[in-house]
Amino acid sequence: MEIAAIHFIILMAMSGLTKGAGVLSDGPLNAAVGETVVFNPTLTSSETLIHVLWIFGDNIIIEYNTYGPNNTNPEYEGRIFISNGSLELRNVTSNDSGQYSVIITLIVRDGGKIAVGVTELDVNERISGASVTSETNLSIEGNSFNLSCDADGSMISREWKKDGVKLTPDDHLSLQENNRVLTFNSLSRKDTGVYLCNVTNPVSQEGAEYKMVVYYGPENVQIKGPSDIDLKTTLTLTCSAESVPASYTWMLNSTKIHNSAVYTKDNTEPSDSGIYICEVMNNVTGRTSSALHGLSVTGAPGLSGTEMLLILLMHLIIEVTHRVSRLIILSAVGAISGIVILCLVASSAGAGGGYYIYKKKINKNATPRP
Ligand SMILES: *[C@@H]1O[C@H](CO)[C@@H](O)[C@H](O)[C@H]1NC(C)=O
Ligand SMILES: *[C@@H]1O[C@H](CO)[C@@H](O)[C@H](O)[C@H]1NC(C)=O
Ligand SMILES: *[C@@H]1O[C@H](CO)[C@@H](O)[C@H](O)[C@H]1NC(C)=O
Ligand SMILES: *[C@@H]1O[C@H](CO)[C@@H](O)[C@H](O)[C@H]1NC(C)=O
Ligand SMILES: *[C@@H]1O[C@H](CO)[C@@H](O)[C@H](O)[C@H]1NC(C)=O
Ligand SMILES: *[C@@H]1O[C@H](CO)[C@@H](O)[C@H](O)[C@H]1NC(C)=O
Ligand SMILES: *[C@@H]1O[C@H](CO)[C@@H](O)[C@H](O)[C@H]1NC(C)=O
Ligand SMILES: *[C@@H]1O[C@H](CO)[C@@H](O)[C@H](O)[C@H]1NC(C)=O
Ligand SMILES: *[C@@H]1O[C@H](CO)[C@@H](O)[C@H](O)[C@H]1NC(C)=O
Repeated sequence: MEIAAIHFIILMAMSGLTKGAGVLSDGPLNAAVGETVVFNPTLTSSETLIHVLWIFGDNIIIEYNTYGPNNTNPEYEGRIFISNGSLELRNVTSNDSGQYSVIITLIVRDGGKIAVGVTELDVNERISGASVTSETNLSIEGNSFNLSCDADGSMISREWKKDGVKLTPDDHLSLQENNRVLTFNSLSRKDTGVYLCNVTNPVSQEGAEYKMVVYYGPENVQIKGPSDIDLKTTLTLTCSAESVPASYTWMLNSTKIHNSAVYTKDNTEPSDSGIYICEVMNNVTGRTSSALHGLSVTGAPGLSGTEMLLILLMHLIIEVTHRVSRLIILSAVGAISGIVILCLVASSAGAGGGYYIYKKKINKNATPRP
């Protein structure tokens, strides 16, 4: 009874102590679920213990008597061990998180002494199964896009990196739901890269990666190669475009001739003259764009001035619109009898991207413009 009263007074006095105080100056302590935690009061070897009381919150865990019976709380039976005043707590769960206090009665050279200590234990689940996932929207340039970082475990905090560099929110990307969701307001091709979500809590850390490819294009389709070439030589035409992914189709006049970016023809013949079209197709964005190139094989019956003018004009059309369909061009080629000038008027309707082609006959003897 007397001892219980003393305990009560000491407990009241200890309630003013902050965590990690007295003979339990280490703390707060962190542990993972299932681990063993040892609370170690700092005592000197000249001190002899006679009585130790360990308390969790308001509950006594164990009352240890050097010269008498021990009294263990049944809830802790088999899970705690005490030695020299240190308390070993095995197989901890989140229910063990909280405040631990100890009251130790000792004999020192000149009499008795009571030592007290308070500390805090924080038990967390280890992080597992970290992953970064995207929702169904395709990572196409201009789309809004979310990456979500999920993991199991308690007290999780997250940090995002792109290609090893910490991401900071700006007007183009933002972090939401406590860093769980990385939101791109409008994807740019520069967002292509490897994203890492680093998940941490006081007892563990796990990272998950996401390789992002931002799809775009085709834009800026260009053909490089000669406009005039000798008979029986090698022709190389190279088509390039800003497009991810891209597939290339070459056509001569209206016939498909090749299926990759570079077209080569050994031993050129007169029939290699004509209008080459490179069509670039992106099967993710669903867009297509083309470029035109006129070639005349020297020694072959060359293109007439009329036809050269026509090719020139069609180059202009392509540059202006990037959208003129092959059909219109080819039917225009077929339609030439005299000299035809194609005049392009872009529709102001916008979205539909409608174009109208006006034909106008002009004097057959007019000199072609350079
Ligand atoms: C307990 O303390 C005594 C004296 O300091 C020491 O000799 C002994 O090894 C300790 N026992 C344990 C289990 O730590
Ligand atoms: C009390 O527990 C300690 C440590 O578990 C042990 O050394 C001691 O013998 C026990 N005392 C009694 C009376 O059971
Ligand atoms: C640890 O505790 C959990 C839940 O209380 C229990 O299921 C498990 O068997 C214990 N493990 C050991 C090694 O005691
Ligand atoms: C924590 O305590 C609650 C209430 O006593 C109990 O239902 C729960 O199973 C315990 N959790 C663990 C992990 O032991
Ligand atoms: C996909 O991106 C578009 C364009 O930014 C956006 O309007 C739409 O809400 C997104 N859809 C989904 C399912 O995320
Ligand atoms: C992205 O996540 C935010 C926050 O969870 C949500 O409000 C938004 O609708 C999501 N956007 C898309 C395109 O899924
Ligand atoms: C993840 O975060 C932890 C804690 O902040 C840090 O130590 C570690 O280096 C990080 N890992 C990576 C790959 O950034
Ligand atoms: C393509 O058209 C040009 C000019 O009309 C012609 O000279 C050439 O023979 C044609 N080539 C093929 C393969 O049809
Ligand atoms: C696009 O084409 C490639 C082959 O060129 C194919 O592997 C891919 O699945 C296609 N993607 C779509 C969305 O059709």
